[in-house]
Amino acid sequence: MLVSAKEMLEKAKAGKYAVGQFNINNLEWTKAILQTAQELNSPVILGVSEGAGKYMCGYDTIVGMVKGMIKCLNITVPVALHLDHGSFEGAKACINAGFSSVMFDGSHYPIEENIAKTQALVNACDVLGISLEAEVGSIGGEEDGVVGAGECADPDECKMIADLGVTMLAAGIGNIHGKYPANWAGLNFDVLAKISEKVGDMPLVLHGGTGIPEEMIKKAISLGVSKINVNTECQLAFAAATRKYVEDGKDLSGKGFDPRKLLAPGFEAIKATVKEKMELFGSVNKA
Ligand code: 13P
Repeated sequence: MLVSAKEMLEKAKAGKYAVGQFNINNLEWTKAILQTAQELNSPVILGVSEGAGKYMCGYDTIVGMVKGMIKCLNITVPVALHLDHGSFEGAKACINAGFSSVMFDGSHYPIEENIAKTQALVNACDVLGISLEAEVGSIGGEEDGVVGAGECADPDECKMIADLGVTMLAAGIGNIHGKYPANWAGLNFDVLAKISEKVGDMPLVLHGGTGIPEEMIKKAISLGVSKINVNTECQLAFAAATRKYVEDGKDLSGKGFDPRKLLAPGFEAIKATVKEKMELFGSVNKA
């Protein structure tokens, strides 16, 4: 079922667990995530960055693929198809293409502009029943080889954006996309607690889920995080399994070069990673 992320995240917030957003790159990724969610009876959010959207030949192609797969694989758990870190234009394009959820990342704009643009999208999404994620305080990560620490969100600004009527809010609390550097200071739980207090029932989103230690994930959920984004970890698992297949010479034996065989270990590795995360986040049997 392709649905907005609103209900699944409200249930997660009330039940003190989190729903995973797993980013997709192609058919194998999408199928692995959907099948795992169904097997574990878990709600799931498929994340699509604008770059991955272009790679997969545009948002219409993705909507067609996801809807087709949900039908063909008999996926009955709630699935949200969500734009990750969208621009204002990207969010509008996804709304028009039939995504059930979008993120508008206005965190790099001055707060007044972030508010104005987010507000315009709140109105558009409300009419169509699409969930909307907004962001305050940028999330760090690697850009041109330099790892930025990411700034912590201002709890008052979080309240201003939450009050616009968005569905969920991503707030920087020292989290970073990609692998965490050895000297990472960890998540800032003081800031998270203050944000949580200000925004009340609003589900909070934790980006950069790859490599955050289990205890920190659990503490973040206890402080109001109900959506956790994971991307790099599935990529690393896929790459390692594919590397092993080739290094073991399996592509050279028999019909091992058949893409359906060549990509199978990576596919299974994504499934295993998604399963591990769903168990950690507590979303198993919460469909
Ligand atoms: P990672 O790649 O660090 O898991 O982050 C994913 C993410 O936050 C997507 O928005």
